[in-house]
Amino acid sequence: MVKICCIGAGYVGGPTMAVIALKCPAIEVAVVDISVPRIAAWNSDQLPIYEPGLDEIVKQCRGKNLFFSTAVEKHVAEADIIFVSVNTPTKTRGLGAGKAADLTYWESAARMIADVSKSDKIVVEKSTVPVKTAEAIEKILAHNSKGIKYQILSNPEFLAEGTAIEDLFKPDRVLIGGRETPDGQKAIQALKAVYANWVPEDRIITTNLWSAELSKLAANAFLAQRISSVNAMSALCEATGANISEVSHAVGKDTRIGPKFLNASVGFGGSCFQKDILNLVYICECNGLPEVADYWKQVIKVNDYQKSRFVNRVVSSMFNTVSGKKIAILGFAFKKDTGDTRETAAIDVCNGLLGDKAHLSIYDLQVTEEQIRRDLSMKKFDWDHPIHLQPMSPAAAKEVSVAWDAYEAAKGAHGICILTEWDEFKTLDYKKIYDSMQKPAFLFDGRNVVDAGKLREIGFIVYSIGKPLDSWLKDMPAVA
Ligand code: NAD
Ligand code: UDX
Repeated sequence: MVKICCIGAGYVGGPTMAVIALKCPAIEVAVVDISVPRIAAWNSDQLPIYEPGLDEIVKQCRGKNLFFSTAVEKHVAEADIIFVSVNTPTKTRGLGAGKAADLTYWESAARMIADVSKSDKIVVEKSTVPVKTAEAIEKILAHNSKGIKYQILSNPEFLAEGTAIEDLFKPDRVLIGGRETPDGQKAIQALKAVYANWVPEDRIITTNLWSAELSKLAANAFLAQRISSVNAMSALCEATGANISEVSHAVGKDTRIGPKFLNASVGFGGSCFQKDILNLVYICECNGLPEVADYWKQVIKVNDYQKSRFVNRVVSSMFNTVSGKKIAILGFAFKKDTGDTRETAAIDVCNGLLGDKAHLSIYDLQVTEEQIRRDLSMKKFDWDHPIHLQPMSPAAAKEVSVAWDAYEAAKGAHGICILTEWDEFKTLDYKKIYDSMQKPAFLFDGRNVVDAGKLREIGFIVYSIGKPLDSWLKDMPAVA
């Protein structure tokens, strides 16, 4: 029986390994982590992450050929194939701080593999890493090899949260990069054989190591660039009376462009896009390519602009101040169908409104109060470095309350901001909500989920990203 061990039981390691276990009954899969609470949660009825379809798969495989454990060294020693799916956050200090990937967790995993291994291993980079990381890992393993042979493969993960199971069941492609030597090619074939249990062969792409590593950063950069492009257009739509939904539709009809991933929003979030683009920028700078670095940097700048533009629109619409006003925040996760809040636009929007002394009442279907408070007290990039966590300042803590439903959040509020596109927000009883609010009642739709026409009939003043403005909003000072 082939044995797989995955180091890192997070958003990638957990679902990916659960699907491998489901699709490959002849393989034993152990997912290991240094976090005791995380592993305990994977072994309980309350999994540590919310992902549609994941619970059923874990229940079906756990204890049969899928195991979650903190016995990291034992499972690594026994495995034939070791996936490394640890976090690779942005460095917060030292050389490359604010841009470069922090490979501390990766390096310590590699050193541990070298320490405990007693047989040859295939080591698979599942984490998103800077191009050429495999070379560094090879060096660490080779210098500590004790005669054991290692083959490093790059097998980046392309799943998106909220649709992870669907994405893993039917990936657009599986990418495997390896050395162009006979041993390297043998390792590629061994990993290919795992995926071939359910992925059609023509969807499994093999490349050299560096192409695979760079393709992952490139794919995320291209995806994020589409959103910044459409968001930049949304600002121009508001200034000109064009409608971003109509523009996206017309642009996306071009088969060379395609219709997906063209939804204007309050800004992209998530643990990957910003981190990976900053990492790409750093790599370009290190390779003496400042023009290329600047090109990609602009994707982040437009995203930051989109978030601050939203905050400015809220404040300027409400007579240029939200001081002491209750604002309901509907949605805190970085997208629907996940409880993940890493780099969510909601953090910057909420902090922007708190900066103008608003009182926030926040409601999300999946995010806990504890998580919201932690997020609003964190410094930039600290979310992936748990040691830096600080409690929220008592002043800020007083300005934030967390509601158990949207109606409660909106009661007595002057305005509502929709920051996550949860389906529930499309079908709320907005007449009931309007009646419970201060007047004039504002709704700022950062995800274009509500029917603005219907809400205007009720009496709301509505702002929808990239859509023609109400006369009220047009009369307010321009926002930048
Ligand atoms: P995560 O923070 O949810 O999980 C990482 C886990 O690794 C944590 O539970 C941590 O405790 C564990 N860990 C760290 N060092 C360890 C060690 N030495 N030994 C054992 N466990 C250790 O992160 P994630 O979202 O799963 O992302 C993991 C990697 O995958 C990152 O490089 C990320 O960029 C990449 N990625 C993420 C996504 C996504 O949607 N989240 C998608 C594609 C790729
Ligand atoms: C992304 C990539 O899609 C995935 O391939 C990679 O493996 C990890 O990073 P993820 O961050 O989980 O996945 O979600 P994604 O669906 O890409 O959304 C990222 C952010 O962009 C979210 O905040 C989402 O709301 C936003 N978004 C997405 C838009 O604002 N408009 C769109 O049209 C699409």
